Amino acid sequence: MAHLLSISRAARLVGVARGALQTKIKAGELQSFDGMVEADELLRVYPGVHLDDDSELERVARIKDRAFGKRVFERSLPDKEVLAARIHEIGRELAESKGQVKFYQDLLDRFGARLGELGASEGGKIMAEQLKEWLGQELDQGVGVVPPGLAGRDSYLRVVAAQVKLLPSNREFFLEGNDTVLEAALRAGAPIGYGCSSGNCGQCRAKVVSGKIKYVRPHDYVFTEAEKNQNFALLCSCTAVTDLVVEAVVAQGPADIPFQQITAKVKAMDYPGDDVMVLQLLAPRSSRMRFMAGQSAVIRTGSFSAELPIASCPCEERLLQFHVRRMPGNHFSDYVFNRLKVGDAVEVEGPKGEFVLDDDSARSLVFIAWGSGFAPIKGLIEHALSLDAAENIHLYWAAKTAGDIYLPNQCRAWEDALDNFRYTPLVAGGAHGTSGVHWDKWLRELLQPVRQEHPDMKDLDFYVAGPEALAEATRSLLLEWGVPAGQLRVGNVA
Ligand code: FES
Repeated sequence: MAHLLSISRAARLVGVARGALQTKIKAGELQSFDGMVEADELLRVYPGVHLDDDSELERVARIKDRAFGKRVFERSLPDKEVLAARIHEIGRELAESKGQVKFYQDLLDRFGARLGELGASEGGKIMAEQLKEWLGQELDQGVGVVPPGLAGRDSYLRVVAAQVKLLPSNREFFLEGNDTVLEAALRAGAPIGYGCSSGNCGQCRAKVVSGKIKYVRPHDYVFTEAEKNQNFALLCSCTAVTDLVVEAVVAQGPADIPFQQITAKVKAMDYPGDDVMVLQLLAPRSSRMRFMAGQSAVIRTGSFSAELPIASCPCEERLLQFHVRRMPGNHFSDYVFNRLKVGDAVEVEGPKGEFVLDDDSARSLVFIAWGSGFAPIKGLIEHALSLDAAENIHLYWAAKTAGDIYLPNQCRAWEDALDNFRYTPLVAGGAHGTSGVHWDKWLRELLQPVRQEHPDMKDLDFYVAGPEALAEATRSLLLEWGVPAGQLRVGNVA
């Protein structure tokens, strides 16, 4: 019997990005049917994968952890009850498979006996010999037998992580440890609707179409009779015992995210350069900020405010990161640099803006950040890493001086940790105005590596962020170089 795997599970098993498998399917190199891949087809395309140990799985997990820098996910096992239920489910399937194997073994024995009878008759002797020979060859080749390494690894994955599929979007993600379905969805970059995230408002309620859940967080929301009958659950409070299929609305774009006002606390203030601060805010557990990676928010502190790109992704859950430029004379900047301190309350309003990732695209991604345009680009990159959909990611950070590239270690860490990530700093030297022939020449020369390293611009998605003049000039240049307008998104930062 064919061993079918979802694309997400198949990618996990062979340790590649989901986007890499989708590219192979698109190119006809890997056969799939209805979003599933056969195990032996997977092994045909990835024959070099070592399935007899879990070092590759661990390697991929480590890569993800390192890629996210300080935010190392806690890789804990689910609680005993969930583990027992998953092992029980696998045991049930094993018993079922054993029954089937026994049935086919008996059938084979009876077939052999019938062949013997046929061979005893004069007329059937030759045919019986040929059939016997054919059967022997087929059995020797072990046609259709899933290698034990693959089956074992698949079972192991199913015990430590449940797979969740969202309908109607067909998004899939894995849930590890004792995470709630909401937490796992956010980590995987699936923007499902929620409100309080503490079991009270009911905004995260969704219909469980198949699979078993278990409540692991307190919850007070009371379901109606109709909701109970339709198997509704609170995704912020339950985890997945088995693989799940859930009907849950996923935000398709910025318009689907409501405007919110929250009060967050300053968690950390780091200074990667003299003129920039990485400001980390922590939202309260009961009112997190919903946003899409790449969007902005207004920060109010003291009596001053500024709209800044959010430099983290929703997968960071309660953490919101902003990059604040030192601008002497600017009231907001002066207040943040001189008076704000860890533990202070800060009002955050938003989200704002349309500079978000095209989640439906499986094309490779090229990001171009100009100076502090790195902030929204960082959020987009982290979101893209969570989605695991792009086959390759290339980041160019362009700046007038090397000092303007204020988080080079973060970029190098991505490049070191991820096989499919490249980072290229582009340092231009002195200022060249914002228009005119010399400026145009300067811009073209600086961005020339983008063109040379990606002659296939039509097959890529481009994201550009920076001060308006630079970002818009880059847009014009990329269009001139052949990037389709629908594959180019530009975000302006102050
Ligand atoms: S988000 Fe409010 S109950 Fe789940």
